[in-house]
Amino acid sequence: MPVVEAKGLIREFRAPFRRTTVLAVRGLDLEVGRGRVFGLLGPNGSGKTTTILMLLGLLKPTAGQATVLGCPAGHRSARRRTGFLPEETRLYEFLTGMETLLFGGRLYGIPGRERRARAEELIRRTGMWDARDRRLSTYSKGMARRIGLALALMARPELLVLDEPTSGLDPVGNREVRDLLREVAAEGTTVLLTSHILSDVAEVCDEIAILHRGRKVLAGEVKDLLSDARRLAWETEAVDAERRRKVEAWLRDEGILLHGVAPPRTTLEDLFLDTLAKDEGGGAS
Ligand SMILES: Nc1ncnc2c1ncn2[C@@H]1O[C@H](COP(=O)(O)OP(=O)(O)OP(=O)(O)O)[C@@H](O)[C@H]1O
Ligand SMILES: [Mg+2]
Repeated sequence: MPVVEAKGLIREFRAPFRRTTVLAVRGLDLEVGRGRVFGLLGPNGSGKTTTILMLLGLLKPTAGQATVLGCPAGHRSARRRTGFLPEETRLYEFLTGMETLLFGGRLYGIPGRERRARAEELIRRTGMWDARDRRLSTYSKGMARRIGLALALMARPELLVLDEPTSGLDPVGNREVRDLLREVAAEGTTVLLTSHILSDVAEVCDEIAILHRGRKVLAGEVKDLLSDARRLAWETEAVDAERRRKVEAWLRDEGILLHGVAPPRTTLEDLFLDTLAKDEGGGAS
């Protein structure tokens, strides 16, 4: 049975004091299997947050049905087993990171000793150990995001719903969050996330759906969507012009169309991460 299943979800918003309505979600079907990382993508205003809020039972669909963890969306049992990171993290500014997780753990009813162990584990896994005793009011946007994510994981949810989890994170944080989500999924948790940062999504998601004006316009397995069966890329060591001509002549003789030959490009993200890693290694503070 899928962890999340939606059929024909529709949500209309009525603008206050006006006759006009906005159709934020227009007949959406979704299915997310257990242990999968599923990405809901789409431009601003395409209905991602509205969809998520309906699945959590925080917003009532105008029409259609959704089940989450085998219960109707918003059912107590489904809510208890779901962790949620909202689009805007609103936490208590006067608590420290550690206190925030302990407080959340108490609300979830996690017993004392286990609560502290779980909080410490998550503080470490989100890279927040050094800042754990600082108040949230002193945190940067990315740090608050990481604590929000740790909080969503406190109760070991079966389903983790994240609205723009990487917003405000630097590339190091991005990589850490992506790795954490893959680990969480490997432990059997299902992850449903939204994002604008497509390179992140490609690395972390098994499956995606692209929304446009409230409709699903493309969906599928990331690896299928991104591989182009009409082309093939070889990668070799660098060779001199003479040998290159020989290889190209052979391809021509065989009637194989050569689209291009070039040194592979690294990504700016890899360059950035390598540079930081070297600087750490060099003993700089
Ligand atoms: N409470 C509301 N009242 C009226 N209209 C709303 C409300 N919430 C959302 N909408 C409208 O519904 C549409 C979808 O909004 P939604 O927040 O779901 O988009 P989104 O895909 O999450 O966008 P973003 O990428 O900016 O977060 C937008 O046109 C938005 O203006
Ligand atoms: Mg949104």
